[in-house]
Amino acid sequence: MSSDYIPAISVQDIGKTFPRNNEESLIVLSSVSFDVAQGEFVGLIGPSGCGKTTLLRIICGFEKPDGGIVLIDGLPQDKPHRNALMLFQDFNQLFPWKTVLQNINHPLMATGFIKNKNKAKANALKRIEDVGLTGFENSYPHELSGGMKQRAAFARALALKPRVLSLDEPFASLDSITRRTLQELTRRVCEKYGVTVFFVTHSVEEAVIMADRIIVMKANPGQIERVFKNPCRESKDEAKRADFAREIQARLLEGVHENYGEITCAAE
Ligand SMILES: Nc1ncnc2c1ncn2[C@@H]1O[C@H](COP(=O)(O)OP(=O)(O)O)[C@@H](O)[C@H]1O
Ligand SMILES: [Mg+2]
Repeated sequence: MSSDYIPAISVQDIGKTFPRNNEESLIVLSSVSFDVAQGEFVGLIGPSGCGKTTLLRIICGFEKPDGGIVLIDGLPQDKPHRNALMLFQDFNQLFPWKTVLQNINHPLMATGFIKNKNKAKANALKRIEDVGLTGFENSYPHELSGGMKQRAAFARALALKPRVLSLDEPFASLDSITRRTLQELTRRVCEKYGVTVFFVTHSVEEAVIMADRIIVMKANPGQIERVFKNPCRESKDEAKRADFAREIQARLLEGVHENYGEITCAAE
């Protein structure tokens, strides 16, 4: 790697503490550091409450860390900017009173990213095609399924040509077939446009399907437990995938046991 290599995301020694009423403040993140290469897909997995969403919010500039710095393409990301956008699990990310096309067009015009109305529309229509929503340009969100709403939210983010997309469990509320389709679509479209993806998931299976590398976090305080390179993202060898998934699951459980002690069944 040459010395002028700039990672897409560089998270450097991030710490975050939230105050709590009449109680000791909560250290959510402590000394979190990692890089994500240009065009890489990195999955983040960890127990509930370990600070995953907080970390994504810091990466996208929605939340300020107490210490440390986040660089996107080598530049400090200390406020929201279209170069690092975030998508959520929630199906209600669209304006309900705007059509799919209007939802995608709106931020293009409102941010001044594209000033010409016809150019904005042409860009929006291309992104609609990318996510497989052609024919639904004039539909309102209430006329779409959950998966279609997620596709529209994805198209809206893509239209702003972000360098980085942060996904906070965006497929968690979908049925398994739609989830699989959208995992593949996200991977394919982001690869096509060279968008770097950093995603949070609860699902080891999803991480193995989508990620080039998988970061396992532990809680109290949220810290990186281990980083795995995914040896079987494109492998069709189910046994190899299952072994790798078990290794990650074991690491996750170890982190949980450290926090809460061994978990035993009442019947044992
Ligand atoms: N704005 C906030 N104020 C106070 N506490 C917060 C705030 N946001 C998150 N927390 C707390 O920080 C911890 C981590 O939250 P979060 O990042 O949402 O975890 P995760 O996404 O891993 O489930 C939780 O204990 C949560 O209650
Ligand atoms: Mg979360």
